[in-house]
Amino acid sequence: MTPDKDLLEAALSIQEFESAGKELLGILKKDMQLSVDSLDNKTIDYICPEDQLNYWQDDFYSQQPVTASALFKTILDRSIKLSRRGYVGHQVAPVYPISILSSALSAYLNNGMAVYEMGMAGNAMEKIIIADLAKRFGLPDTATGFVTSGGSLGNLTALLAARAHYLQRQQPSVNYQKLAIMVSEEAHYSIQRAMIIMGLSVDNILKIPINEKGQISIEQLTGLLEKAQKNDWHIFALIGCSCTTSSGSYEDLITLGHFCREQKIWLHVDAAHGGPAIYSNKYKALLAGSEAADSIIMDFHKMMHVPSLSTAVIFRTAAHHKATFSQNAKYLWEDQTSDQWYNSGKQTFECTKPMSIIHTYIALRLYGDKFYAQHIEYLYDLTKNFADLIDQHPLLELLCTPQSNIVCFRYTGDLQRINEINKHILSKIIHEGKFYLVSTSTGGNFYLRTTIMNPRTTISDLEKLLNSVVKFATSV
Ligand SMILES: Cc1ncc(COP(=O)(O)O)c(C=O)c1O
Repeated sequence: MTPDKDLLEAALSIQEFESAGKELLGILKKDMQLSVDSLDNKTIDYICPEDQLNYWQDDFYSQQPVTASALFKTILDRSIKLSRRGYVGHQVAPVYPISILSSALSAYLNNGMAVYEMGMAGNAMEKIIIADLAKRFGLPDTATGFVTSGGSLGNLTALLAARAHYLQRQQPSVNYQKLAIMVSEEAHYSIQRAMIIMGLSVDNILKIPINEKGQISIEQLTGLLEKAQKNDWHIFALIGCSCTTSSGSYEDLITLGHFCREQKIWLHVDAAHGGPAIYSNKYKALLAGSEAADSIIMDFHKMMHVPSLSTAVIFRTAAHHKATFSQNAKYLWEDQTSDQWYNSGKQTFECTKPMSIIHTYIALRLYGDKFYAQHIEYLYDLTKNFADLIDQHPLLELLCTPQSNIVCFRYTGDLQRINEINKHILSKIIHEGKFYLVSTSTGGNFYLRTTIMNPRTTISDLEKLLNSVVKFATSV
């Protein structure tokens, strides 16, 4: 951009778009190649928050002209790279290359989705993908749903519908403050946040202890429900985690489904992370029982490896969520009352929302559902092999046998200082930068936590991770 050029013209320039675009593609291609070439190319070049802030503050107020590609490159250099083989941290996905391109298309279109004209292709794609997923989960033909921005919002949406459904069947005199949910003690924190947003509190969350596999303890369910009912709690939903965030454990949904049907309790399945196993013949049994769910959420931006945020929210019947989100908006829709799937703003919390479904639609359309089956199977199989390495190692211990692609483990070489040493290992690994992993705590015990997200990661990479764990354990 030359200083004498009109600014609007410069920002709108198609030629500059093309040249910056080519440069960006070059930068991304080179970086992707680094991820393929060697594990030694850093996943994270850790910069402390203050230094990062100072850098960007200086940059923002700098009078120096800058090119788009220089900015792109600096942002890349100062960010964690999920595409690296050493990225085994949180459940956010390194995206497949096609999604980088569909992101550009989505940004260009910027279709807002709430009304049909503002998301003509997106609304239709959303309906198709949701119907396909509902079928895979074994839900009846009445099932319906939509895409929303993230699992946290998805859980809130489902719980709002569950409460509305419960209240429709109760006397108007029901005590709102005694409305409660039952949930695994390992449920994601978004459930608690949703309850607080709904005007309830942590007291309204009845936590169910887990068994050694990390699942809701079925033995304790009936007793806990009886106790809750004696204390006048009105249980409007039970939440099953498929799978849990901390250890990746899938619930026994078959038993939870029977329990909920018998007790007439809404079953919500939080399949934010583990839902995509439904695409794999090898692993879909982990979700057996999902057909009894009243609502299910599944993040596309986790195990479907598309850009954040994109979450399916599926209801057993349309009536379940209508009461929650039917609002009048005369400037948006002429017809306020009828159920029009193509005006998705009628059904969701969001008004303007990104057409995030195009990433999943395009990946499925180009590569087919077998691609996602392969993807899940590669990651879940690799995780099992990784867990075997840990299990066989004399100085390492698994938290539990992984059912998905999440593995928690710790170094046990010095039991006196076990938490201290494992925290030290984590910090050292992150500062070294080759790998990025995270942690979890249970019963006062600190564990290293890995989510094997990257289809480029190999068992030999993970062997090297374990070597680093042991190396840093001895450097305390
Ligand atoms: C089981 C589960 N539910 C919900 C969420 C929240 O999803 P999001 O980060 O998309 O809001 C997560 C995120 O890790 C999760 O693991």
